[in-house]
Amino acid sequence: MQLPNLIRASVVVGSLSMMMVTTSGVLANTSASFGTPVTEADIAPWDIDIETPTGKGLPPGSGTVAQGKALFEAQCISCHGADAGGGSQYGSMVGGVGSFVTIKRRLTPGSMYPYSSILFDYIRRAMPMTEPQSLSDDEVYALTAYIFSLNGLVAENAELDAESLVAIEMPNRNGFIVDDRPDTVATRCMEDCK
Ligand code: HEC
Repeated sequence: MQLPNLIRASVVVGSLSMMMVTTSGVLANTSASFGTPVTEADIAPWDIDIETPTGKGLPPGSGTVAQGKALFEAQCISCHGADAGGGSQYGSMVGGVGSFVTIKRRLTPGSMYPYSSILFDYIRRAMPMTEPQSLSDDEVYALTAYIFSLNGLVAENAELDAESLVAIEMPNRNGFIVDDRPDTVATRCMEDCK
């Protein structure tokens, strides 16, 4: 039954915004302060984006398949299953190469990601799901190496760092097309916008 849920949700949102209106008057009288200077050190933990085709922004460090396997078994197996073959929370992260263009596509790194550094970025940002960003960069390299080895993209004794990671050619590298329809081009407007 979708409809009653929708109605309840909008009632809740309505009452929340009412609360915000009434409290804003009170907040205006407190000594809230804006403008605390932000240091480089404050920004560093947030500044983790990677330019995925080139790997620009990948941190120093390295990790081996064997280290990744041990980490995976300690921290990932509960949700992703043995050998990343699928577990309680997510399907397999192995195989599926070539399936991306079929109706039964399998969403694995090998079938989907055009660039290898996406796997590093994903794990570093989001995993383990219960404690994101708790892994060191070396550990993320090791887990990346392990998952790629399960997919046959690196050798079982491989060690990955920024350079060797970017050198991996993903099977789906050319599987995406650039949307070149002229009416989809967005031009950024910074002043006097329509
Ligand atoms: C508590 C459960 C849980 C744990 C523990 C966990 N994951 Fe995940 N993981 C998920 C879920 C759920 C998703 C799918 C998230 C989504 O699609 O938004 C996911 C997605 C992923 C993906 C993306 C898969 C793809 O095909 O693109 C990777 C890679 C991954 N996890 C790696 C890891 C690694 C490495 C660890 C251990 C350090 C880990 N996960 C631990 C639940 C978990």
